[in-house]
Amino acid sequence: TYVITQACVDVLDKACIDECPVDCIYEGDRMLYIHPDECVDCGACEPVCPVEAIYYEDDVPDKWKDFYNANVEFFSDLGSPGGAAKTGRIGKDHPLVAALPPQAE
Ligand code: F3S
Ligand code: F3S
Repeated sequence: TYVITQACVDVLDKACIDECPVDCIYEGDRMLYIHPDECVDCGACEPVCPVEAIYYEDDVPDKWKDFYNANVEFFSDLGSPGGAAKTGRIGKDHPLVAALPPQAE
């Protein structure tokens, strides 16, 4: 799967959403999350993010390794909704993200 990392927090550019062929990028509160089972590893989202927040799971920088689990655990109680458009804005974050101080400048 691909993983969204800290650079997305409080930015939420959303360019990635338009690229995903399977609509597996879901909106939390302060960042977006990629569904690990729905992502087909097409890689289309990675180059369009203006803040380079998206990485293939094996390429996540060490300082952001915890974001792999954040993307996975975000869906613990959501299951596999099968599409972010119909789900809409979820309005909550993984605790790792919720605890971060404001990231915007
Ligand atoms: Fe976030 Fe980048 Fe998408 S900032 S919303 S991962 S385009
Ligand atoms: Fe979608 Fe990116 Fe995966 S475009 S299928 S989330 S690699």
